[in-house]
Amino acid sequence: MQVLSVASEIYPLIKTGGLADVAGALPGALAEHGIGVRTLVPGYPSVLSKLGKTKTVRRYEALFGASAALLAAKVGELDLLVLDAPDFFKREGGPYGDLSGTDWSDNWRRFAALSRVGADIAEDGVKGWRPDLVHAHDWQAAMTAAYMRFGPAHRVPKVVTIHNLAFQGRFGADVFAGLGLPPEAWGMDGVEYYGGIGYLKAGLVSADAITTVSPTYADEIRSPTQGMGLDGLINGRADRLHGILNGIDTAIWDPAADELIARRYTSRALGGRAANRRALEKHFRLDRDDAPIFIIVSRLTWQKGMDLVADAIDHLVGLGGKLAVLGAGDHPLEGAFLSAAERHRGRVGAHIGYDEPLSHLMQAGGDAILIPSRFEPCGLTQLYGLRYGCVPVVARVGGLADTVIDANEAAVGAGVATGVVFAPSDPLALHGGIARTIRLHGDKAGWQAMQRAGMRSDFSWTHSAAQYAGLFRSLVQGAA
Ligand code: ADP
Ligand code: GLC
Repeated sequence: MQVLSVASEIYPLIKTGGLADVAGALPGALAEHGIGVRTLVPGYPSVLSKLGKTKTVRRYEALFGASAALLAAKVGELDLLVLDAPDFFKREGGPYGDLSGTDWSDNWRRFAALSRVGADIAEDGVKGWRPDLVHAHDWQAAMTAAYMRFGPAHRVPKVVTIHNLAFQGRFGADVFAGLGLPPEAWGMDGVEYYGGIGYLKAGLVSADAITTVSPTYADEIRSPTQGMGLDGLINGRADRLHGILNGIDTAIWDPAADELIARRYTSRALGGRAANRRALEKHFRLDRDDAPIFIIVSRLTWQKGMDLVADAIDHLVGLGGKLAVLGAGDHPLEGAFLSAAERHRGRVGAHIGYDEPLSHLMQAGGDAILIPSRFEPCGLTQLYGLRYGCVPVVARVGGLADTVIDANEAAVGAGVATGVVFAPSDPLALHGGIARTIRLHGDKAGWQAMQRAGMRSDFSWTHSAAQYAGLFRSLVQGAA
């Protein structure tokens, strides 16, 4: 089976969050099930600069008015189709906005273009290669399913994966005229959404199957509180909805082989973590002592509960903890963490920015990773924490609830606890979670048992890739 995956990010070429990790790892995992994946991605400068040899497989003179080329390339094991459209993607800034973080005003056109090309590949193939199924990720790619549904490739099965329902790609109704869709695509059963246009919505109504990245999130988004306006639609298509937990790339995230950390270690020799702890303390100018180090590796946003953490810092320090923050996002939050680092020198450190190697060192040297998300479709950093013996302290939502086993008495007694889970995501519960973590850390043997239980858990792609493969097979067989 051949699959075209369409994604706006892919590790190691362009990444702002977990979507990139998933888009980068799933093809390798599906290969083991005899499924070949080619991934269509935008030709941002950071993508183009990492391509070796490329071959032009298709040209557009006027793709939404711009000239563009579709390049085929291989990067490591990734088989890529890169949409080189300088008018859309050759810009300074991030994939979705400028350097100040403001969304590009023509995002509707940029990602309609990506999706249009995805549908063209489903229709005509490229140089004899044709996908049996198309897998579109998030709103930036979701219109692929809509273009396919209203075009010749409507019979090719389409799967849309929701990585985050908070980002829906909503635009004004005036955009419709520029999309090149037939008039019947307008309307409740098409791209129309509350009087405007919704790209994710259009993808969800057009898809043969909808997946999201954890079973609990699949349940949560069916309720008005977490459905972000789409719960009605999702409920109406519940028979097509699947919650499949993300895996992690265990070759990239492996404390026994990680070249980005100060010292490699295994669950049997946790002593090796000490050198990483010292390197972490040095980087963040934290006091060198035995106090538990909480880490944060996160977008600094409301979703992630980062305002709650900022408000809990005095409490955390008062109880004897230390905190190291790596993140970027909302400017007031960045400021709050920087000023906490000033206020609590030696106890709190903040590194504002995006730093992949540092994120590895933090998981290897930190004692606990704090993730008080208000909602979390899956979350990958708790999985990296588990694998590195950096105990997750998480809110009981979405994928966090599905992957961390709370250190309650029964779980500790059975030796299966892997972290601290608190609820709800509010100041009181977070304070409680922090206090409980510090108490647990005081019992060295108990703490190490928890680290080892986490490191032994299997969050590789093995199980989840089999679920995707099963779903893809049933759709392709159904379409035949
Ligand atoms: P989300 O996709 O919602 O941001 P995930 O937990 O699924 O959350 O994925 C976040 C990914 O981005 C992880 O790989 C994490 O290590 C990485 N990450 C987040 N912030 C930073 C940062 N400031 N520096 C380096 N890596 C980061
Ligand atoms: C989104 C979600 C995150 C998930 C990631 C990858 O960014 O916020 O929870 O892990 O996508 O699926």
